Amino acid sequence: MGERQRKLHGIMICVPYQGHLNPFVDLALKLASNGIVITFVHLEFLHRKLCQTHHANKTDVDLFSEARELGLDIRFTTMTDPFPLEFDRDANFNEYWETMVRDFPPLVNEFVGKILASDRDNMLHFLVADTVYTWPAAVARKYNLVNVSLWTQSALVYCLGYHWDLLQQNGHFPCNDEVDEEIKYIPGIESINTKDLIAYLRQSQCESVISRASRLQFEQGKMADFVLQNTVEELEPRALSALNNYLPNYAIGPLNFSQDLPTNTVTTSLWSKSDCTNWLGSKPPGSVLYVSFGSFVHTNMQVLEELAYGLLLSQVNFVWVIRQGILGDGATSVLSAEFQDAVKERGLIIGWCDQVETLSNPAVGGFLTHSGWNSTLESMWCGVPMICYPIGFDQPCSSKLVVSDWKIGVHLCEGGTLHRENVAHKIQSFMNGGDLERLKQNAERVRKIMKNAVETDGSSKTNFDRFLKDLEAKIRAQN
Ligand code: UDX
Repeated sequence: MGERQRKLHGIMICVPYQGHLNPFVDLALKLASNGIVITFVHLEFLHRKLCQTHHANKTDVDLFSEARELGLDIRFTTMTDPFPLEFDRDANFNEYWETMVRDFPPLVNEFVGKILASDRDNMLHFLVADTVYTWPAAVARKYNLVNVSLWTQSALVYCLGYHWDLLQQNGHFPCNDEVDEEIKYIPGIESINTKDLIAYLRQSQCESVISRASRLQFEQGKMADFVLQNTVEELEPRALSALNNYLPNYAIGPLNFSQDLPTNTVTTSLWSKSDCTNWLGSKPPGSVLYVSFGSFVHTNMQVLEELAYGLLLSQVNFVWVIRQGILGDGATSVLSAEFQDAVKERGLIIGWCDQVETLSNPAVGGFLTHSGWNSTLESMWCGVPMICYPIGFDQPCSSKLVVSDWKIGVHLCEGGTLHRENVAHKIQSFMNGGDLERLKQNAERVRKIMKNAVETDGSSKTNFDRFLKDLEAKIRAQN
């Protein structure tokens, strides 16, 4: 078959966390819905976790079989990372990433080489890798693949990371943890306070593996042919337009709410979900605070206790997701029976849920979140105002966007230690106070912007179509 008739074929390799996996799968479905062949790669341990959660440990499950029945050509495969399957990657985060940065690149290199060697007819044309990996540029170059980078965080964070050297020249990397000043020299960022910077730019974290790996990652990201941003043009116009001066960027978010996606065809949830519908159905509209800290940050017992008793004192209804492993030690039950008893009617504590379904429930009036980017987008999509309690990584930046730029949320505290009385007061005034109407109106405005973006002729849809054209042109030119 001549090159012109051959379908485009991409290989997608994502990072093994829920907050990265979700947008990756959505992008795979979106590309395949547009006639592109996809080879989707999970790390073996993640595949096993999904099989354990959803398929009674059967490991020969093809996670994309239903999608293929719908006519989408997505081939599923797995590869190993440098650790044995039983290694606890969650509890040993630093060790895991030290090794991943050092030893994973040669494994991917070899893996992609084997895929190419075994499938001559369906030659690969492009690679879609998570921007947080450090190896995509080298692998794409070696195998003559177009290098597509998927960035699963805000464009604001990308801007900061892109200008890491500039931050260093201005004394903001490493950024003294005590400094409180406005940064106004980064192209695309009107102003950001040092306390809202990405956590790994701080002095206390600048030697961490994530800080070192992220710097490498942003450097190698500059060699990408295309960067896909899971954000919305109208919400981050300055950052995106500044980045366009250096890289071809396409704001195509929120990916999980794209119009052309088949729903519920691929299993992605890493934990089994509890259904809160009945419980929520017994509560008045807007009366429940949904509380969740995403899929991978850890916290400590003191924070959980202050939050727990803050929730108790606030008298507000709540659903609280406390996922197994949140303390980083595999503990399954972290709150005392006494507390659980005291909040029996008012509070539902679960291990995991369908977050979008929960946020869409009319009983939910607010979201106390760690400000993970996916959670932020999902809350915005549902028009739910947020109380932000960023724990690390990119989360302070998302909460700055929510509180200062879009005015659809408030901070739980201005740094420092949590106290239950302050938590209770903040929750009470957020759920019942005078500011709620203003927050709700702003949240409704943002919700409409997002809905419009994914409609035909909306910015995200148009940007995605433009990306497909540019991708095809680049592949034709390169082959
Ligand atoms: C992390 C970072 O915090 C985030 O900013 C980055 O972009 C991706 O990596 P995470 O901490 O897990 O992600 O948070 P978040 O980005 O919010 O992703 C969590 C995902 O888990 C969301 O899509 C959410 O819907 C899902 N989730 C969470 C559930 O499905 N059920 C739950 O009970 C809780």
